[in-house]
Amino acid sequence: MGKKKKTDSLSAKQLENHLKAVEDQTLLYAKDLARIFAQRKEKERQLELTKQQLARSARIALLGELAAGIAHEINNILTPAMGNLSILLMKKSDLSKDLVERLETIEWSVAKASSMLHQLLDLSHEKPEKKETKDIGAILEQSLSLLKYKFVKSKIEVKKDLKPNVPKVHVDDAQIGQVFTNLFLNAIDAMEQGGTLRIAASYHPEKSAYVEILFEDTGPGILPEIMDHVFEPFYTTKDVGRGTGLGLFISYGIIEKHGGTIDVANLPDKGTQFKICLPV
Ligand SMILES: Nc1ncnc2c1ncn2[C@@H]1O[C@H](COP(=O)(O)OP(=O)(O)OP(=O)(O)O)[C@@H](O)[C@H]1O
Ligand SMILES: [Mg+2]
Repeated sequence: MGKKKKTDSLSAKQLENHLKAVEDQTLLYAKDLARIFAQRKEKERQLELTKQQLARSARIALLGELAAGIAHEINNILTPAMGNLSILLMKKSDLSKDLVERLETIEWSVAKASSMLHQLLDLSHEKPEKKETKDIGAILEQSLSLLKYKFVKSKIEVKKDLKPNVPKVHVDDAQIGQVFTNLFLNAIDAMEQGGTLRIAASYHPEKSAYVEILFEDTGPGILPEIMDHVFEPFYTTKDVGRGTGLGLFISYGIIEKHGGTIDVANLPDKGTQFKICLPV
């Protein structure tokens, strides 16, 4: 009898162990399922993001082609106007002061329009770039120094965080400098009441073959419905005469020509972040 009792209690224990094992296994399965589900969700999210990015770059490319086509036509019209103005202004001494002033005003406007058109045409033409191995920090410094007075005047503090391991990059420094200047000008416009602009450059060779440069301001950020359009040519929210909406479009084109990427996001607290990745 005693023996039988022992067997009974053993099997109860065994059953308990077995149940516990099944329970553990079920829990593991559930955890696995949750992980697989989360991974799938993340993949779907990334796919959606990639789709959006592809649609965005296709849209920008199309609008860019359109803008370049129009720029080409207008440039053809402006060229003889500019030539004739120059000839007239060469004969300044024969003309009245009033006439010379008016001609110079016209010349200024035509030159401004022409420079805008050339920026667009430069982007669409595969013109040879003057690429050299350059230091990102030096290009940033150069662009910053040009706008120093504007930062001071707008009470914007510039904080730099350039990691020492950031390698040099093979770039056309004048073009990359233009991109930085465009981002600085936008940040200045966004922080009318003052603020902080953080510029950070980093390089993580174990993760990526790109140098990452962040520009973070403490401005109002960008509304979601605007966010998707900021890189399009002539898209601006600024008053007429204050913005042409070409700064980010030109920057996008320059970075793309360098084999890099440029992206925009709102910061969790407040403000906008532009992220540029350039191949090493
Ligand atoms: N740092 C920023 N904070 C908030 N909004 C921004 C910022 N940068 C750009 N934007 C938004 O993106 C729009 C497009 O910028 P972009 O630089 O292309 O043109 P713009 O500054 O309006 O004119 P342009 O640069 O030709 O003088 C801006 O009008 C603004 O609405
Ligand atoms: Mg701008």
